[in-house]
Amino acid sequence: MTQRVVLAYSGGLDTSVAIGWVGERTGADVIALAVDVGQGEDTETIRKRALSCGAAEALVVDARAEFAADYCVPALRANALYMDRYPLISALSRPLIVSHLARVASEYGATVVSHGCTGKGNDQVRFEVGVATLAPDVSVLAPVRDSGMTRDKAIEFATAKGLPIDVTAKSPYSIDQNLWGRSIETGHLEDIWEAPHSDVYGYTSDPAADRGADEITISFADGIPIAIDGRSLTPLQIISELNALAGAHGVGRIDMVEDRLVGIKSREIYEAPAAITLITAHQELENVCLERDLARFKRMAGQRWTELVYDGLWFSPLRRSLEAFMIEASKHVTGDVRVRLEGGRAVVTGRRSPVALYDYGLATYDTGDVFDQALAKGFVELWGLPSKIAADRDRKAAAVG
Ligand code: ARG
Repeated sequence: MTQRVVLAYSGGLDTSVAIGWVGERTGADVIALAVDVGQGEDTETIRKRALSCGAAEALVVDARAEFAADYCVPALRANALYMDRYPLISALSRPLIVSHLARVASEYGATVVSHGCTGKGNDQVRFEVGVATLAPDVSVLAPVRDSGMTRDKAIEFATAKGLPIDVTAKSPYSIDQNLWGRSIETGHLEDIWEAPHSDVYGYTSDPAADRGADEITISFADGIPIAIDGRSLTPLQIISELNALAGAHGVGRIDMVEDRLVGIKSREIYEAPAAITLITAHQELENVCLERDLARFKRMAGQRWTELVYDGLWFSPLRRSLEAFMIEASKHVTGDVRVRLEGGRAVVTGRRSPVALYDYGLATYDTGDVFDQALAKGFVELWGLPSKIAADRDRKAAAVG
C-alpha cells in the first residue's frame, strides 16, 4: 500500500510546494489538511489549490467554533498576554491544528505528518511537541527546515511544475491570521527602528481616523463572554463581531520585539481587536468579582499558562492543571462591562455584577457608610509590627556597629 503523509496545508507558497516536494521525496500520497480557524480565506479555493498542486486528497475542517470555545475562551479566561502584550494568536491555533492532524493521520493510517515551519520559529516546536504528545507513533517531516526547501527553491519548484500559485504576488510579509488576531513579520519590520507601513494592517483601521465612538456592553458568565448589548451569542459570534467593530476603531494594534522560545528576538506586529477588547473587559470584571488573594494568584497563574502555551506546551500536565484552576477561579466572574471603543482604545466605563464583591456600603465616603473605621487603627498597628520590630533591631545594631 502507498504510504500516506498528512500535510498541514495553509494554501500559501511553502505548503503548496511541500505537497509535490514531500510526495517526490517519500513516494507517499500526500493528504493536504486545511484547518479553518477563522483566517477568512475561502476554504473551497484552498482545497482545490491543494488538489491542483498534486495532493491525493484535500480536506478542509471548519474548526472556527471549536477554536473560539476551546482555545480563545480559555486564553481570555487566563487574560493571556505573552510579555504582557501578545494575545497568543498563532500560538493558540497550533494545538488545535495538531489535534486535527493527529486525528486525520489516524483515520487515514498515515504514519507521517508534515508542516511548513522554518527552523527559526516557535511554530515548529508547537507542531512537533503536539504530535509527539498526541500521536507518539507518527513521525514529522519538516521540508522547509530539514530538506533544503528554501524560498528560492520553492519558487523554482512551483514554476517548473506550473503550480497554480502566483509567486510574484507574494507579499513581503509573513502573515498568520485567525479569529483571535493577525500576526505580521518580516519585510521592513525587521528594521526595528522603522515604523510599520500602513499596508501591514488587515484587521484594523487607522486609529487616528476621525470616527465617532461606539459603546457596547459585554456580558460574561463564569468568565465566558455570552452576550453583546443583551444579545445572546456564541463565543465565535462575539469574537467575530468584536473584530469588525473594535477593528473599525483601530483597537488592538501591537508593535513589539518578542522573545522567541528558540532564543531569537524578533519584531512582530499584531492586530487583535476582539481579543484586546475582551481581555480589557474581562480583567475589569475580575476586579469586581475576585477576592484579592485569588486575583493576585490568578495573575501569576495566568502568566504561567500563557508562557506554557507560547512555548508549545499546550498538551502538558501543568497547562491542563492550570486550566482546572482557571475554571474554578472564574466561577463568579459574572456580570456586564460597558466598553467605549474610540481612537484605537477599548476603555471600560462601567461594570456591574449580581455577585460583585464590590460593596457600596463599605466603599462609600457618604452617608450609608457601614465600615467601622475604629477597627482600622488596631489593624494598622499589627500589620506594621514585624517591620517596626525589625527596624528597631537595625537601628540598635547600627548604633553598636
Ligand atoms: N511570533 C508569534 C508566535 O510565535 C507569531 C508566529 C507566526 N507569525 C507570522 N507572522 N507568521 O506565536
